[in-house]
Amino acid sequence: MTAPEDSMEQAARVRTMTLEADDVLAVELEPLDGPSSEWTAGAHIDLVLPDAPVRQYSLTGRPGSARYRIAVLREERSRGGSKAVHERLRPGDIVRLRGPRNHFALEPAAEYLFVAGGIGITPIVPMLHAAERAGARWHLLYLGSTRRRMAFLEEIESIGGGAVTVVVRDEGGRADLAEVLAAHPEASVYACGPERMLAALQELLPDETGRLRFEYFAAPEVEYEPGGAFSIRLARTGVELPVEPQQSVLEVMRAAGVEVLTDCEEGICGSCETHVLEGEVEHRDFVLTSKEREAMDCMMVCVSRASCPLLVLDA
Ligand code: FES
Repeated sequence: MTAPEDSMEQAARVRTMTLEADDVLAVELEPLDGPSSEWTAGAHIDLVLPDAPVRQYSLTGRPGSARYRIAVLREERSRGGSKAVHERLRPGDIVRLRGPRNHFALEPAAEYLFVAGGIGITPIVPMLHAAERAGARWHLLYLGSTRRRMAFLEEIESIGGGAVTVVVRDEGGRADLAEVLAAHPEASVYACGPERMLAALQELLPDETGRLRFEYFAAPEVEYEPGGAFSIRLARTGVELPVEPQQSVLEVMRAAGVEVLTDCEEGICGSCETHVLEGEVEHRDFVLTSKEREAMDCMMVCVSRASCPLLVLDA
């Protein structure tokens, strides 16, 4: 869950910028007041650049390191975030950031199978370090289109301890996910990459198995039935507000003057997480695990709704 201090902005200096792979820039950021908290594998920060949308980037490298390293892929269909990093950001610049926060935390396990596709390797790199440090068995399946576009290949090989399988499409490589999963029947599986890859893994490891954790880069296309009307009560003021079927909880909160931190507004970043004090949530996000959903104590107000007449929010 998001602690209040995680949503505060802090200043950081760009220490280094390195071309890690074709179109992938690794950027090291040094918080001016020191790291706000010890970060763990799977964490991300929000990067707040002038004249660009706030974007989230996984921290990559050794968990807990004082400098925050991110890797930014230049995206053709960028909303401006990756373009701003590639074209305007330079070493020595001061930027603002929020976090780190972690919605993709690595749970203790005796064995891990990591599956990364393309730039999806970024949250996985710290997980390899963490698994290695914990003395767990680990295997990484790293998929990419060409070797030149695959970041951190050398670094990963140098971690040692685990087994790394690199599958490169333009070298004729093809991964059989079913076969890889079958070879590691006891492993906890952590995956990050394109939607197609994640969908295939979800099909092979449905929710009930509890073995799969993954992180999306973009919200998958999901057709939801339009939600019904319900009400929210803002516990801090006692104000009760209706939410119409065509409105989101976020819209209603904002219209009432409540400040809500957001980034994606499509249920994948976790920025708008809000504590739920009473009521049943119809979760529509791609952040919470099934266990977290069942707890019914938080929701992503940008997409999730109520499956009861009244939700009481800690807002
Ligand atoms: S703003 Fe990203 S999950 Fe709500």
